[in-house]
Amino acid sequence: MAYKDGNGSRISGRLRSGDLLHAGLVLSVLLGFWCVSGLEVSTGKITVMEAMNGSTVLIPCTYSSCIGIQRLYFNWHYDDNGTMLKLCEGSIAAEGADPRFSVYHERVEFVGNSKKSNISILLYNITFADDGDYVCFARNFKEKNRNHSATFTLRVVDQVVEIDNTLTTIIVSVVGGVIGFLIFFMVVKALVVHFILKKDDKNKECLVGSSAGVDNTENGHTTAKGTEAKGTPKA
Ligand SMILES: *[C@@H]1O[C@H](CO)[C@@H](O)[C@H](O)[C@H]1NC(C)=O
Ligand SMILES: *[C@@H]1O[C@H](CO)[C@@H](O)[C@H](O)[C@H]1NC(C)=O
Ligand SMILES: *[C@@H]1O[C@H](CO)[C@@H](O)[C@H](O)[C@H]1NC(C)=O
Ligand SMILES: *[C@@H]1O[C@H](CO)[C@@H](O)[C@H](O)[C@H]1NC(C)=O
Ligand SMILES: *[C@@H]1O[C@H](CO)[C@@H](O)[C@H](O)[C@H]1NC(C)=O
Repeated sequence: MAYKDGNGSRISGRLRSGDLLHAGLVLSVLLGFWCVSGLEVSTGKITVMEAMNGSTVLIPCTYSSCIGIQRLYFNWHYDDNGTMLKLCEGSIAAEGADPRFSVYHERVEFVGNSKKSNISILLYNITFADDGDYVCFARNFKEKNRNHSATFTLRVVDQVVEIDNTLTTIIVSVVGGVIGFLIFFMVVKALVVHFILKKDDKNKECLVGSSAGVDNTENGHTTAKGTEAKGTPKA
């Protein structure tokens, strides 16, 4: 008996550790879904921007981390036809701590704010040579310095094209017009169908009345036919 008890408890003990392992696995899988990558950097929803030569543009970048920030290192590069030109770099010691940064480009200003997880830059007086990709890079010491980056594309144009706007206006009005017409058409159709159905209902009422009559007459008819059929051969 004592041996059996011992065996039983050993089994339950094994089960318990198995359950723990299981729970741990489930937990880590859940965490994995929840916190896919520790750090994420983003240059926003719209990552391509057209700007006029001579203007000053904000090149946006923000970061977020579900495990927290610790000794965040960041930099900005301009992809000059394959050669990466470093525009600025810096670090943020902890969440909300003031960033320390250095700028290596005369027309670049760092306008980030660590309280808003913002590491954006301003590029002054852009020229056509500034056209291209701007890469925002960051790595968080807290997640083993894994690299993360996001790209923002700047298109420098002679003038912000009006045609695009008129084209969108045209497209929007055409689509709006078509949708409006469809709605109008559907309302008219619904009304017509409604009235026709109402009429039909009345007709049906008539029909029901008449069909009963028809039934009667048919019965009468068959009988009549019967009598007729019976009558004709005789005649
Ligand atoms: C933009 O470039 C064009 C052609 O190079 C030039 O004529 C124009 O003055 C420039 N505009 C600005 C605002 O610098
Ligand atoms: C970019 O590089 C390619 C070849 O590497 C070259 O043909 C092209 O002219 C370059 N463009 C500019 C704008 O420098
Ligand atoms: C941008 O251009 C304006 C006018 O040409 C000039 O006063 C200003 O110093 C320039 N800014 C930078 C950062 O180069
Ligand atoms: C980042 O900071 C700049 C400068 O203050 C601001 O213009 C920009 O809107 C901010 N971006 C975001 C996504 O908060
Ligand atoms: C991360 O980026 C650095 C440059 O900042 C590079 O030297 C390193 O190889 C990259 N690591 C990985 C894993 O891509």
